[in-house]
Amino acid sequence: MSSPMRRQGEVVRLCSVGDIEPDSARRFDVGPHRIALIRVGDDFYAMGDRCSHADFSLSEGELYPDQLEIECWKHGSTFSLVSGEPCTLPATKPVPVYEVRVEGDDVMVVVP
Ligand code: FES
Repeated sequence: MSSPMRRQGEVVRLCSVGDIEPDSARRFDVGPHRIALIRVGDDFYAMGDRCSHADFSLSEGELYPDQLEIECWKHGSTFSLVSGEPCTLPATKPVPVYEVRVEGDDVMVVVP
């Protein structure tokens, strides 16, 4: 029995550290992936920029830095920046999260 082939994720540079203000979010399109890059202080998080309830952009919603959550502006579901899980209704499904790497001034994500 052969083991399944595993494809390595691709590391993609999104921007420079200074391109995103602390405690803000911005959308990036990487191939088919619509990614919300979120900066909290000096930490970066990346998640799918499409609410799991309907097709609305999470990067346009309100960010709650202390809770590490972002709110969908359409119906108010909040999502964990860490896990992508919804914290409040009406969304019930998670959004994908992506590994972020900061090297020097470069902010990169690993896309599958
Ligand atoms: S579209 Fe996001 S909560 Fe409804």
